[in-house]
Amino acid sequence: MNNELTKVSKNRDYDLGFVPTMGALHRGHLELVKRASTENQSVVVSIFVNPNQFNNKEDLEKYPRTIENDIKVLENISNCIVFIPNKHEIYPDDDNFQSIDLQGMDTILEGKYRPGHFQGVVHVIHNFFKLIRPTRAYFGQKDFQQLAIIKKSTHIFNFPTHIITCKTVRDNSGLAKSSRNLRLSAAEKRDAVIIFKTLIFIKKNRKYCKTPKELKIQAMNFFLKGKLKLEYIEICESKSLEIVENQWAENMTASIAAYCGEVRLIDNMEI
Ligand code: PAF
Repeated sequence: MNNELTKVSKNRDYDLGFVPTMGALHRGHLELVKRASTENQSVVVSIFVNPNQFNNKEDLEKYPRTIENDIKVLENISNCIVFIPNKHEIYPDDDNFQSIDLQGMDTILEGKYRPGHFQGVVHVIHNFFKLIRPTRAYFGQKDFQQLAIIKKSTHIFNFPTHIITCKTVRDNSGLAKSSRNLRLSAAEKRDAVIIFKTLIFIKKNRKYCKTPKELKIQAMNFFLKGKLKLEYIEICESKSLEIVENQWAENMTASIAAYCGEVRLIDNMEI
């Protein structure tokens, strides 16, 4: 671990924020870092493309890497420490992580299409929290399933870290900021807006449908007018992530995963 980080994580008596990232930083990440920087005395931003959370080798290889630019951007934040570990620092030989039962939260929605992904996320966050012992850790709402799982696992592992939820940051078009957007052409970015439009469609049309299932079918028909290849549209209870079909729940989130060319995009919205 780098020296500065060792100093801040041992015998600490001040608040330390943590923003874990896989780099290719965009405005969404910067909002997390800025908030962490104002709410804590110092903030650690990690940049680590975690191989354990990729179920697809090509996706890992093609994940955008813009490390020099990332460092430059973070230099503007005075109380920020950039942590760029190697694989061995995060997964040492004496790694004592034990996987946990997420009671199905990791096998639905994204988990159905990306087997092992969330156990990989839980593992890396567990090891980061052990190293850094952050007071608060910041995550974007765009990965709402990841957020729900991190909240649950933080509780199971009994980490004292507060998990802070930050709003999804979007382009003016509505496209959610994502590192993967770097792989989209200008035309693909325009096509990808159908994801946001469909989420708005779902939110607006909820009141006209008898069941979530009916709404989902209408949303699929709307989505398919665009050019993307749909993987799923689901409506679920926001906290448990349980998919709702026949009955409305009090708090619901609609989520979409789709391919824009070769790039897999996800987004969600509370409805
Ligand atoms: O959301 C991400 O970028 C990653 O899943 C995270 C939280 C940095 C863990 O590798």
